Amino acid sequence: MNTPSEGRREPQGATKSLWPSEPIITLGPEASARQLVLKKIQELSISGCQDAFMVANLDVLAIRHRTFLQALPRVQPFYAVKCNNRPWVLFVLAALGTSFDCASQGEMEQVLGLGVAPSRIIFANPCKAVSHIQYAARCGVQLMTFDSEEELTKLARHYPGARLVLRIQTPDSQSTFRLDTKFGAPLEACGHLLQVARELGLAVVGASFHVGSECQTSQSYERAIADCHRVFEMGCKAGHHMSLLDLGGGFPGFEGSEAKFEEMARAINAALAQYFPEGTGVEVIAEPGRFFVESMCTAAVNIIGKKASLEPGGHKKLTYYLNDGYYGVFRAFPRIPVPRIPIVVKELPSEPRLFPCTLYGPTCDAFDRLYATEVQLPELDVGDWLVFPDMGAYSSCMCSTFNGFPITTIYDAMSPQLRSLLETGP
Ligand SMILES: Cc1ncc(COP(=O)(O)O)c(C=O)c1O
Repeated sequence: MNTPSEGRREPQGATKSLWPSEPIITLGPEASARQLVLKKIQELSISGCQDAFMVANLDVLAIRHRTFLQALPRVQPFYAVKCNNRPWVLFVLAALGTSFDCASQGEMEQVLGLGVAPSRIIFANPCKAVSHIQYAARCGVQLMTFDSEEELTKLARHYPGARLVLRIQTPDSQSTFRLDTKFGAPLEACGHLLQVARELGLAVVGASFHVGSECQTSQSYERAIADCHRVFEMGCKAGHHMSLLDLGGGFPGFEGSEAKFEEMARAINAALAQYFPEGTGVEVIAEPGRFFVESMCTAAVNIIGKKASLEPGGHKKLTYYLNDGYYGVFRAFPRIPVPRIPIVVKELPSEPRLFPCTLYGPTCDAFDRLYATEVQLPELDVGDWLVFPDMGAYSSCMCSTFNGFPITTIYDAMSPQLRSLLETGP
């Protein structure tokens, strides 16, 4: 199996015995996830079932993987497992030759269980539990990030043979989900950390960053790549062999953000050419999460309760209670600044009157609402369905059974073409 320094992997086909045991739906010709969702709603309605569900179209995942490789030809993707760790998602990506970013022992176990070589994993959590470090050492997962002296002390004691990547702090005010207050060493601290690592006999092999999830601007990447170049200089001065640059995640993934991604990719390619030109022997990896999986899933949710109220000026407001919410697949929703309005599955006049609506999930907690603000929707009834596209990232992996509500069922689907690619390889 290749190591990152041996370049990109080609799809290999997948060992039959490792195929997930979870059922898979075969997509008919031209079938999109949305069509499948509408068909499922019809089927469920006939059988009287109105439980919320989600459809995952694995063909979209494969397309996103190909788009990434085409737009960023020098970058080996290490998919961020935390974003969506469904067995079929990991299986498809492993079979297509992707490597993986794992945040914990549990994620490493899942990926190694698919027959993925330890050299295809980066343990990209800068503050790790000792037992998880020891697990990585036992399994031979060498590549891991750090951002503090305390972490270096732990690693020197428990895994002196690790190959370390220094995670730097990157301003991420231009991203929907910020990470910089939690992780990353300030640039001014990097020289000292690299020196300490050297004194402890640890090998630092590169630098990484994360611009924050759902980044809005390519400038965040350009600046971070320039900063990493400085860290490489500091590392070489301290006696380390710096050979790995990790661009992290942050690429937007929702349908409609493709042009933004292409623009980011162009800026990244130019910054790489300027600071890490080909021929310098520096391998470049990234940890995309939402770019790969966000647009793959579509959720269908049923209205289980409704209240109408009149505001002082006589204006009508509506409150809908749904059978999935914040404690289910919508955990990330209230943090999205521009609400993503669902598609209404109902015959309505061509320009229906809209009302300010609050959407609550099913639990008894008032915090269990989908949007921080009201959204404009038509008047609907108990039993009506709402469909939410772009539900593949940080959704199913964050579900809980709070208040006794079951985890939303997910139907995985793929085309016969993708199935045969997975079976036979390219
Ligand atoms: C270290 C690390 N890498 C990658 C990711 C994936 O980021 P995204 O889903 O924005 O691509 C995350 C997300 O939190 C992360 O913490």
